[in-house]
Amino acid sequence: MVKLGVIGVGRFGTNILNTFKQMEEEGRCKLAAICDINKETLKNQSEKYNVKGYTDYKEMIDTEKNLDGIAVATPDPFHREPVIYAANAGKHILCEKPLDVTVEGCQEMLKAARKNNILLQVDFHKRFDPFHIKLKADLQEGKTGRIEYGYAHMEDKIVVPRDWFPGWASKSSPVWFLGVHLYDLVRWLIGSNGKQVYARGRKMKLKEIGVDTYDFVSAMVEFENGAVVTFDTSWILPEDFEAVVNQGFRLVGDRGIIECDSQDRGTRVSYEKAGVLTYNPVFINENRDARTGKTRFSGYGIESIADFVYNLDYLSKGGRLQDLEGGITGLGEDGLEVTKIAVAVHRSLETGKVELV
Ligand SMILES: NC(=O)c1ccc[n+]([C@@H]2O[C@H](COP(=O)([O-])OP(=O)(O)OC[C@H]3O[C@@H](n4cnc5c(N)ncnc54)[C@H](O)[C@@H]3O)[C@@H](O)[C@H]2O)c1
Repeated sequence: MVKLGVIGVGRFGTNILNTFKQMEEEGRCKLAAICDINKETLKNQSEKYNVKGYTDYKEMIDTEKNLDGIAVATPDPFHREPVIYAANAGKHILCEKPLDVTVEGCQEMLKAARKNNILLQVDFHKRFDPFHIKLKADLQEGKTGRIEYGYAHMEDKIVVPRDWFPGWASKSSPVWFLGVHLYDLVRWLIGSNGKQVYARGRKMKLKEIGVDTYDFVSAMVEFENGAVVTFDTSWILPEDFEAVVNQGFRLVGDRGIIECDSQDRGTRVSYEKAGVLTYNPVFINENRDARTGKTRFSGYGIESIADFVYNLDYLSKGGRLQDLEGGITGLGEDGLEVTKIAVAVHRSLETGKVELV
């Protein structure tokens, strides 16, 4: 049974812990160690998940020699070092998006993964959304013909950069936090990499409240196959907006069109003082499993993490890394291509010009 560790057990690391722990209870893996530099977070999570904790990821990796795989959920700019250290120790890796915030960083991470023949997986969960999987199948069957152009948006409520991680939001941007999800989704759907971009953005509202980053970034990306897709990303939606995230996309081909509201899946509620809310119930759901009395987690936000465990199980039984290429798993190579687009978007924001990916 595969043994797992997690580095960075904050807000999103908790989803990873919930997934691994649930799969441990199903006999599919063992959550063996966790690490966080924040002692209070570490103590709380170690107690809650009944797992050994470390404040230093190197110590965790050096001590827990039996770990097969490690998930990294540190803030965006701090994935690189733990990933390279884990790769050089021969551990398979699930890295949160973005793989790194520099192209060189991604290349170094990929080099370490290839040298050590380990799986470097990136948590691009939009690939696991059942609505997106259905549309991908239609695209693969050629129902839309060749995609010519499209549009995608992902917008968070202002609580995300302002309240959820005020410590590092200014080191991130709507591109790094949200855009990378969409760039990967469109790449995966249309099967083509970015070629050139033109982007505009603005620092205003967040800067005024002390978070020095872009309010929004609009980027027009031309892909190598000629498709042109415009991506709007922002994190300044008002607190009273109907959901934490607003998201969706449309792609138009020479023989068809696909559209997806990836937020509003048709559920609408209204409660006193809460206004009207829409839910995205396919992302992460919690319900009580009557058979075990425990909370059960499901949805594409969980499936994407569970996929790492399925992959490690497959590899442990003699499967080859190459077999995972071209499937639903986001690989290090995908992480690199996505970061290339994101870096070119930021470059274009600075130069005001079209930039090559
Ligand atoms: N897949 C998704 O949908 C999704 C959603 C949210 C966040 N994320 C990504 O997950 C990552 C973490 O985001 P978050 O919202 O959980 O942030 P967070 O700030 O809540 O958690 C990060 C944790 O990492 C710890 N940490 C920082 N440096 C460390 C180090 N060197 N060693 C060990 N621990 C360290 C921090 O103490 C903190 O507890 C980011 O890359 C983010 O973009 C992904």
